[in-house]
Amino acid sequence: MEITKSQIDKLIIAGKTKEVFKLKGDNNYVFVYSKDRITAGDGAKSHAMEGKAKLSTQTNCAIYEFMTAAGIETHFVSRVAEGSPDWDRSFIAKQCDMIPIEWVCRRVATGSYLKRHPNVKEGYRFAPPKLETFFKDDENHDPFWSLETLIEAGLVCGGLKIGKIEVEEMLRVTQTVFEVIERVWSTLNHSLIDLKIEFGVIEEAGKKKIVVGDVIDNDSWRLWPDGDKRLMLDKQVYRNMDNSTIDEDAIKAVKAKFVTVAERTQALFGSMIPKPREKGLPSPPPEVGIILGSMSDMEHATKIKKTLSSKYGINDVEIHVCSAHKSTEATLAVVASLMQWPTCQVIIACAGRSNGLGPVSSGNTTVPVINCPPISDSATLSNDLWSSMRLPSGVGCSTILGPENAALAAAHIIANLSPFTWARIRAQQTYTIVKMLHDDASIVA
Ligand SMILES: Nc1ncnc2c1ncn2[C@@H]1O[C@H](COP(=O)(O)OP(=O)(O)OP(=O)(O)O)[C@@H](O)[C@H]1O
Ligand SMILES: [Mg+2]
Repeated sequence: MEITKSQIDKLIIAGKTKEVFKLKGDNNYVFVYSKDRITAGDGAKSHAMEGKAKLSTQTNCAIYEFMTAAGIETHFVSRVAEGSPDWDRSFIAKQCDMIPIEWVCRRVATGSYLKRHPNVKEGYRFAPPKLETFFKDDENHDPFWSLETLIEAGLVCGGLKIGKIEVEEMLRVTQTVFEVIERVWSTLNHSLIDLKIEFGVIEEAGKKKIVVGDVIDNDSWRLWPDGDKRLMLDKQVYRNMDNSTIDEDAIKAVKAKFVTVAERTQALFGSMIPKPREKGLPSPPPEVGIILGSMSDMEHATKIKKTLSSKYGINDVEIHVCSAHKSTEATLAVVASLMQWPTCQVIIACAGRSNGLGPVSSGNTTVPVINCPPISDSATLSNDLWSSMRLPSGVGCSTILGPENAALAAAHIIANLSPFTWARIRAQQTYTIVKMLHDDASIVA
């Protein structure tokens, strides 16, 4: 988003590493400006680090762009357009009433967890990840709060009471955020050891909403390449330094790690978000092939294709029409050509009456095949379904009824190799649970 100097209004909050300014306009947006400062121990240790603001902004924006594209509710609006004031050290967010809790999610026991639990050895792997909550209070060193303490505290933020359901919601979203970021880093064999996030409350369409807020940058996590603590790339390197020995060279060494993380985060997370197709370029290779037994099944295929794109970010879909019974050679050629794309991970076969298409495709490819017969009435279905279900030996296609569910089944397969699709599915499932928790609470109330 482009902004001018005159749009940056009054300072709302000044913290140790950031300043938050109101942005003029009726959007309720803020301009979050980062400082060239690194701090630890609730501010007890604090140094200037030239370039940190820019590195933090790069890391944070790449993470937030990925999360918002994945469907996680956040405060992030956009980067500041190049050329605007302080564009490379700031971002635009929705103004939040921040909830003064740090939500920590740990995959591996290390750091302060070991101090609180001295009988647990460093390296213990939490599955599911361990969630902890700390009350943000620098003077008292952000004390650990049990969930019961948090619920009983009855915090009210932006007019929203933080009760049992809200706590449950934030716990679930924290775990989702952790797992999503962990999965992306895992493709580089970098282990996300733990992560801290915060939440804020916004009002949208007359409703209070809890969103992920503040920043997620190299101060927010522990990141160990190859799972090796000695290779750590995050702010812990600075935390571990003896304050009295920190000189210019020490800060330079810390900065080098921040540069690596900013570059890797940008490259990795940025490359995984599906981009709009550029006009004039050849179509990208297919991730999904949809084969129809007849042109009359096109509406059915379109529903599958639309769901793949809108819900799971899977845009590269190739549709073919051929009949296993009537144009057998063409069918085999289509299957063979799809198989020649290493990108093509699943074939969806749509044929009514006697479905030869799915079983024939399945018997002639290594790619998983899903039958999705375009039948809606149950009388026809109960007869025709057997042609998809009773398979000769050596044929292993599955059958999913309904175009949306077939798209989801395909997305599950794609998610094995695509952290973005995995994140979309994970986020949707999380918010479905959250909605049901609220629905349930509304009945009881
Ligand atoms: N979208 C937002 N709207 C309003 N405030 C925000 C938003 N995002 C972050 N903040 C707040 O901006 C403040 C400044 O950030 P900074 O991280 O510098 O604070 P800090 O000194 O580290 O204090 P803290 O210990 O609270 O993080 C924080 O209190 C943070 O919660
Ligand atoms: Mg902070």
